[in-house]
Amino acid sequence: MRFVFPLVLLAWLGAACTQGGPRLEARGKQVFTENCASCHSLDPGVVIVGPALAGVVSRATAQGTDPRAFLEQAVLTPAAKIVPGFANLMPVDFERRLSPDDLEALFAFLLTLE
Ligand code: HEC
Repeated sequence: MRFVFPLVLLAWLGAACTQGGPRLEARGKQVFTENCASCHSLDPGVVIVGPALAGVVSRATAQGTDPRAFLEQAVLTPAAKIVPGFANLMPVDFERRLSPDDLEALFAFLLTLE
């Protein structure tokens, strides 16, 4: 029993250091570069295949949607809602292709695009 508490504390500290924050966002940006940047620019108004994702958080909020829920739907079930003026071209298999950790990092990064 004496050893359990320090171990739990260490595990918690380890988790606290790896979750959230700039490091997670940097990893998410890498996931974005590898999987999304071929179709999505981060510069406002620049259309590649899909809409630029600059300001995507504000757009979600303006629609009265929770940004995290908006992004999850857009990435995991993209066909559920198509952005007006765009074709249904977004891949539908990101949930399978990306690990849960990569998805978490991706959402952390996307949530910085205010
Ligand atoms: C093959 C091109 C392509 C790839 C790759 C792609 N997307 Fe898309 N994406 C689109 C298109 C086209 C739309 C607009 C049609 C729609 O709503 O599905 C879109 C829409 C979106 C939207 C909604 C934007 C808004 O303003 O409402 C988000 C968010 C998004 N994509 C995120 C991503 C992310 C994150 C990735 C990488 C994991 C990704 N996309 C990969 C083509 C792509």
